[in-house]
Amino acid sequence: MPGPDDGGARSPGRSFGSVAAGYAAQRPSYPADAVSHLLGRGGRPREVLDVGAGTGLLTDVVVAAGHRVVAVDPAPEMLAQLTARLPGVPTVAGTAEAVPLTDAAVDAIVAGQAAHWFDPGPAAREFRRVLRPGGTLGLIWNTRDERVPWVAALGALLAGEARGHEADAAVVGSFATALRADVAVAESGIVQRLSPEDVVRGVATRSYVAVMDEDTRVAFLGGVRDLLAEHPDTRGRDVLELPYRTMAYRLTPG
Ligand SMILES: C[S@@+](CC[C@H](N)C(=O)[O-])C[C@H]1O[C@@H](n2cnc3c(N)ncnc32)[C@H](O)[C@@H]1O
Repeated sequence: MPGPDDGGARSPGRSFGSVAAGYAAQRPSYPADAVSHLLGRGGRPREVLDVGAGTGLLTDVVVAAGHRVVAVDPAPEMLAQLTARLPGVPTVAGTAEAVPLTDAAVDAIVAGQAAHWFDPGPAAREFRRVLRPGGTLGLIWNTRDERVPWVAALGALLAGEARGHEADAAVVGSFATALRADVAVAESGIVQRLSPEDVVRGVATRSYVAVMDEDTRVAFLGGVRDLLAEHPDTRGRDVLELPYRTMAYRLTPG
């Protein structure tokens, strides 16, 4: 949910442009079964708005499932990365609170790793406006799976990252109330295979790391590097398997 300083260029919600180039390479994708839950199974190809689309990690999976997507994000640098990877997907600069689409423009809206940045009241009004009758809102988050010991140790280091399933569920609750929506939830998971240095680069794309001053960021990322060099489950390994739990929520407004 937006904090008091979210309008500023250095605020976390507006910091993604500065890490756009590394974002798509370092962040996990989304499992196809979870995305299919967001959009409903077996339906005809539909028109979908991906809001807070960023570099298009969720867009990718929605397009692969056969849907037509329009991508909206406030950060032009993120949308430029999306266009480079998915040139057929139209992009429009905008926000969840002011969606640059006409009324009843789409069958479904999705947001990956993004709805906690939206202001639920104004965003819900916009979602109701641009959805066709019977349309749905799909919210999805990947969260590191801290049941794995080295991932738990990493999580303890990333104490600034206060998000977890409970925080995401609270965001879903706000949208469900604002839209008087039924909620259907599905859990899945995905594993990223990456080098220790890629793990460090992925941490660097986190919004609260992106807004650190240079010295603080270098020291912080050095701590992550040290952990991976020293933890018994990661020490000396060239490739790490970083597991995520994925929670997918499909909201059907009443
Ligand atoms: C963590 S990234 C997720 C990007 C992409 N959906 C993904 O799954 O990789 C969050 C995105 O939300 C965007 N964002 C932040 N505030 C927003 C708002 N109020 N409305 C729409 N998008 C917003 C950011 O610019 C950023 O691209």
